[in-house]
Amino acid sequence: MIQLHNVNAYYGRVQALRSVSMNLTAGKIFSVLGANGAGKTTLLRSILGLAQTTGSIHFEGEDISALPTYERVRRGIAVVPEGRRLFSEFTVGENLRIGAINRTDRAEVDADIDEMCTFFPILRKRFEQPSGTLSGGEGQMLALSRALLSRPKLLLLDEPSVGLMPIAVSDIFNMVGKICRDKGLTVLLVEQNAKKALQIADNAAVLELGAVAFEGDVETLKADGRLKEAYLGH
Ligand SMILES: Nc1ncnc2c1ncn2[C@@H]1O[C@H](COP(=O)(O)OP(=O)(O)OP(=O)(O)O)[C@@H](O)[C@H]1O
Ligand SMILES: [Mg+2]
Repeated sequence: MIQLHNVNAYYGRVQALRSVSMNLTAGKIFSVLGANGAGKTTLLRSILGLAQTTGSIHFEGEDISALPTYERVRRGIAVVPEGRRLFSEFTVGENLRIGAINRTDRAEVDADIDEMCTFFPILRKRFEQPSGTLSGGEGQMLALSRALLSRPKLLLLDEPSVGLMPIAVSDIFNMVGKICRDKGLTVLLVEQNAKKALQIADNAAVLELGAVAFEGDVETLKADGRLKEAYLGH
């Protein structure tokens, strides 16, 4: 459903992605692993049109490489960025509504908000509170729910596990897995927590210094001795 072909990304003279090609299957979870600075965030920025890139990106058969960010978002790409970026003065409820800003099906938006609050009961409890008062884990649940409220076809997640307790990571990943199964959502999950990421992923890629060092199914990755040692420990 999304294909990257020979994508290079640059910050001025620094090249952050090197001839990256990837192919994501609709309705599946694709995890991208890589060390600090490997280019994971740049990969997401490139898909969103927020980086200077060459090469091509096709989304549902259409070349979106030259489209501005809002056009890519309109086609159904949503992101939970590094560090969440909630509107901290706005309440939890308002943040959720912001996620649905481009939708006109009000009744279904209300139903979706209710579904998120049922899955993450803390959101209902804190519904009227400014989102800035949430804990890190609660904030990540809100950021994920907000992104899902746009009913994306492709969800980009940038290190959702950072700073969270294992139980909160499991809650977040379970929600991602559920929406993926129930609604056919495609997920690109960038993670340093390789173990957790591979638990829910169908396919994976490894980035090393901006280049793809592996792409394939999770079992094959786990069977590769060098990659297993480098990214999963023993
Ligand atoms: N705004 C920028 N200007 C110059 N170089 C940048 C910029 N942003 C990122 N880079 C460089 O691009 C490379 C890839 O960075 P990127 O943020 O994509 O890595 P990452 O895999 O997301 O790392 P992390 O796990 O630490 O978040 C790094 O070498 C980084 O220093
Ligand atoms: Mg990053």
